[in-house]
Amino acid sequence: MSKLCVPVTDTSVSSMLDSIHSLPPEVEMVEVRLDYLQIPDYQSLERAVVRLCRGKDRPAIFTNRPIRSGGRWEGDEGRRLDLIRRAISSGAEFIDVELEVADRISCGGSSCRKIVSYHNFKCTPPDLQKIYGQCQRRDADIVKIAVLANDMADTVRMIELLRERGASSPLIALSMGEAGVPTRVLAPRFGGFLTYGSYSDERASAPGQVTWKSMLDMYRFHNIGPDTALYGVVANPVMHSMSPVIHNAAFAECGMNAVYLPFKVADGLGDFLDAFQNYGLKGLSVTIPHKEKIMGFMDEVDDMASNICAVNTVTIRDGMRYGSNTDVEAAIDTLRGAAKRADMLPLDGRRALLVGAGGAARAVATALTESGVVLTIANRTVGRAQELAQSLGADFCGLDEMEQYEPDIIINTTSVGMYPEVDRIPVPASLLRKNVIVMDAVYNPIETKLLRIARGRDCVTASGFEWFISQAAGQFETWTGRRAPRKVMEEVARERLQP
Ligand code: ATR
Repeated sequence: MSKLCVPVTDTSVSSMLDSIHSLPPEVEMVEVRLDYLQIPDYQSLERAVVRLCRGKDRPAIFTNRPIRSGGRWEGDEGRRLDLIRRAISSGAEFIDVELEVADRISCGGSSCRKIVSYHNFKCTPPDLQKIYGQCQRRDADIVKIAVLANDMADTVRMIELLRERGASSPLIALSMGEAGVPTRVLAPRFGGFLTYGSYSDERASAPGQVTWKSMLDMYRFHNIGPDTALYGVVANPVMHSMSPVIHNAAFAECGMNAVYLPFKVADGLGDFLDAFQNYGLKGLSVTIPHKEKIMGFMDEVDDMASNICAVNTVTIRDGMRYGSNTDVEAAIDTLRGAAKRADMLPLDGRRALLVGAGGAARAVATALTESGVVLTIANRTVGRAQELAQSLGADFCGLDEMEQYEPDIIINTTSVGMYPEVDRIPVPASLLRKNVIVMDAVYNPIETKLLRIARGRDCVTASGFEWFISQAAGQFETWTGRRAPRKVMEEVARERLQP
């Protein structure tokens, strides 16, 4: 079973021990980063190693990483290695030594196990197998390869290495960076010896490290195994996405053996799908910039998604890929909820002003025209508004012409008002009259300036947050056939968004 290991990077022995002792038992190992200690003289450093070996309360890897390998040790190379030898003789369970010096360190007759590591902070080199072989030949008990993944293709190569080699001898194979998160979370699924979880967001010792808390609480690391179903969000960038928090909470609430990951894919969408389908991928949320492009890799796309040329949900069943879109239904449900509160149902014949002409606007505009709403589309680039409006038989205008309309419904689909530019509003405040329905696609902050002013003027508001949760719930239901635990999804998302 893969272990969760937290690197401790404090600068003194006592705070390092405090950090170790503060960790729960689910963190089975720690990595003591000797190179972070700020202790000026060598004799004191030797004593520090002994104190750390005696004081730790769980198995530990002792590492003294030089600057050239991404560490902080600036001193003499011989002394660096002597401190590692001191850790071996003081009872360390593991030591980590870099490939190029691994021959100079032997665990001799001790019970200490030698991790031979290779790091590359620039790229994933083409010859991973060769590097693996080189590490193994240095008398390694465990091989560690940690390299930067620039895209998902690099991550897939690392997973392949782990799948091929991890079963026969212990291997730590990790891709660093945003694209590498799946290798960290899925170590138990592919037979990795351990994964590293950072002590906190601020104290990550490698790029892309997930905190131990998120590993345990969000990803349920110790529940992941060969049968765990894989889901995720494919985007670029992806780290800001709220979807992993929401969907993992939903899977946990329903007691499902499933995990949801962030997949950073720039190019190679097809190769990513092929690889992960082979690993057990069951469903994907799709977002910027892939909603349109991913349609080319589906076996079937439903009518609504084809109509608006955007797939936000992929379901993989019996080897077939189905594309659908939950944005539209979520938007119309959210709007209908507000219309009910405003006593404005049916929507038929109501006048709506839709701001924006991008992908989200296309989804909403399609839903609105299908509901018989009389639609005007306003956009910064008027040509885009015109194009969208003409495809739906709607009216259009520029942003400076909005004031002349008297809409019953106003919907913002632009990013105006989104964090950090929270002081902006996408429409003239004069349009926000009593009983007008005001809906915002922006969900961070939950109450945008637009919604706050609208609420103050007795408009009926519908938030992007409601819309966002609704599309996520729709995805969960599409994949699992179960009712989504909306309340839990909402709660975890709210926790993340609230400052
Ligand atoms: P999405 O798929 O989320 O709708 P998009 O296709 O990039 O994203 O569309 C973004 C929309 O927000 C567009 O309508 C864009 O206007 P342009 O077509 O003129 O680019 C609009 N938008 C983005 N930033 C804006 C800003 N600062 N002011 C006004 N409109 C903005």
